[in-house]
Amino acid sequence: MQLLNGNEVSKALKLEIKAEVDALRAAGKKVPHLAAILVGMDGASMTYVGAKEKDCKEVGFDSTVLRFDASMTEADLLAEVEKINNNPDIDGLIVQLPLPKHINEKKVTETISYKKDVDGFHPMNVGLMFKGLPCFLPATPYGIIKLLEHYKIETTGKHCVIIGRSDIVGKPMSALMLQKNCTVTVCHSKTKSVKEFTLQADIVIAALGIPDYLTADMIKEGTVVVDVGITRVDDASAKGYSLKGDVDFANVAPKCSYITPVPGGVGPMTRVGLLLNTLVAVKRKEAVKAEGLQG
Ligand code: GUN
Repeated sequence: MQLLNGNEVSKALKLEIKAEVDALRAAGKKVPHLAAILVGMDGASMTYVGAKEKDCKEVGFDSTVLRFDASMTEADLLAEVEKINNNPDIDGLIVQLPLPKHINEKKVTETISYKKDVDGFHPMNVGLMFKGLPCFLPATPYGIIKLLEHYKIETTGKHCVIIGRSDIVGKPMSALMLQKNCTVTVCHSKTKSVKEFTLQADIVIAALGIPDYLTADMIKEGTVVVDVGITRVDDASAKGYSLKGDVDFANVAPKCSYITPVPGGVGPMTRVGLLLNTLVAVKRKEAVKAEGLQG
């Protein structure tokens, strides 16, 4: 069994990104600028946004975080999004989800300019992705693809079983694995016997958010297992919680050819996916400018 080490791979990719940013800066060109909007005080969201800010600093991006009270109105949030859409200095924008209940996430996602939608959530980017055209890929599936590519995991002709059908992970992951010539099965909460499918899988991607869901009896020997789950489970530690994946790692790992740990697997790759998208956003803008085309 070999670990798919997201910490190590993301570190190498961040060095490559930093080298590109340093070159842009040295040439007097614009460096990527990522903006994040955080509404409210959700603990996980605050951690994620803080991590994104730190990542930007590490690779030399400019970053702006706008923090608002949970009582912010939908109209005010949409106005903030429009302001950033129209700010030429900002290349990428993410609005951290979940948003407070009184704000319509769909409306917010669709208000972000698809050219700055580095989360890849806008319907325009979703459509481009399904057609295999240049777009912003959602960060987690993008990061997983980069991780599989780094370890030269064979995908052509393989059976990939994805557990979970979220807009952020399961659905886009299915399109990307299809593009990588896998036979793809998507299991979800209404699937009668998930095990029936996972036992036939060469690659399992677990993205359902149930700690320790995938057990050793559900996979065959030699399976590649990617664990997207990262659930906070309360415990007696100083932090008050630990992070649990969707895979019963201790028992599943010995049966795998490759497996991602949690933490240190998919999480850091997701973060690097966002950085790669932001770098692409600025490069695309420069290319459009150079060709004198309409942006
Ligand atoms: N909340 C959980 N994951 C994500 C993500 O990838 N992007 C945003 N904007 N919010 C999230």
